Amino acid sequence: MIPIRRGMRRPAPRSAGSPARNAGDTPTQPGPSLRPTATPSRHDDTTPTEGIPVVQVVRNDAHDRVVTEVLAARHFRHLSPDLVSRVTTIEAPKVRRHDEAVARVKRKLHQIANAYTPALHAPRDAAEALRAAAGDEDALRTLAISLMYGHASTAERLPVHDLIAPRLREAIHGASGSDESIAQGGRVKAETPARILDLACGLNPLMIPWLGLPRTCRYDAYDVDSRLVSIVQAFLEAWGQAGSATVRDIGGQDTAETADVVLLLKAVPCLEQVRVGTSRRLLETLNANRVIVTYPVQSLGGTDRGMRATYRQAFDNLVAGLPWHVAELRLPDELGYLLTRKAPLAPVAQ
Ligand SMILES: C[S@@+](CC[C@H](N)C(=O)[O-])C[C@H]1O[C@@H](n2cnc3c(N)ncnc32)[C@H](O)[C@@H]1O
Repeated sequence: MIPIRRGMRRPAPRSAGSPARNAGDTPTQPGPSLRPTATPSRHDDTTPTEGIPVVQVVRNDAHDRVVTEVLAARHFRHLSPDLVSRVTTIEAPKVRRHDEAVARVKRKLHQIANAYTPALHAPRDAAEALRAAAGDEDALRTLAISLMYGHASTAERLPVHDLIAPRLREAIHGASGSDESIAQGGRVKAETPARILDLACGLNPLMIPWLGLPRTCRYDAYDVDSRLVSIVQAFLEAWGQAGSATVRDIGGQDTAETADVVLLLKAVPCLEQVRVGTSRRLLETLNANRVIVTYPVQSLGGTDRGMRATYRQAFDNLVAGLPWHVAELRLPDELGYLLTRKAPLAPVAQ
């Protein structure tokens, strides 16, 4: 287990409540509160939706005014403009007034992104600290642990870090660690990946020091939050890992890159909250041989509410009929699956 050392941040209280509204970010109108009203925003009504198209952003003056106003707000300006535009296309037509549309879009963006980062402070300082520690593995490991408290999803893993890191490492290298899957022949020959895509990465790439990857393995990470992306980019550079971090709305465009392993950790509920069927489309269009999909088993507020059973069902629906072998991963405090393609693509060249 990881002790909390001096100088480390304590885990963020697991609440999706009022996050991170920064001083000076005045609400645009007295519309609905941006705080989630009840329990957190983790829900998932994933249903098989064959080949839903990506959302075509409909741009007009009204759309652009909403996007501009949302991106001008301090609390939202770090988010991907493509995501804001996509969410506006979906949400704005549901209401009549501009101020209602702005509030609706902000609420959705809070649920899928900002709710996870109430404990993210001074991202520029974090990136600076990482750069200053470049090449010093011990310092970078300590910093990584400390910084992972800044995102709810990685903070949740820290109390079980010593248990989850080897499991993720096994899965990334192609061994599920599940006795059942091994008995069913589901275990694939372990192989070190040459390229990993971490989709909706949060601060998960800061786990790299515990994943047993060669520095030559290209690790590309995407998230809609540019503050997280800047920290991840600084970390990749300081650690000397090939790859990069990029601001990208993974629900707005198909992921065209080829990879050996794709990580989709705790991200499906966020994708489905914007548009049901997005994760299914993602799985249908990915060019990868292995995908690791996980779900949270507790709400951001720390309650259970039967999420394991709900997400197990959601996952079954998500992969129904798709050409993947499925093995459940034995992850502590997280529902996880290793998907291996039934007809593998050629591995990514080193
Ligand atoms: C539940 S967190 C999971 C983070 C990370 N995968 C982990 O497990 O530690 C969801 C993350 O997805 C990001 N996100 C939400 N919607 C996204 C989208 N459409 N494209 C890319 N990232 C997205 C959020 O900013 C947030 O960091």
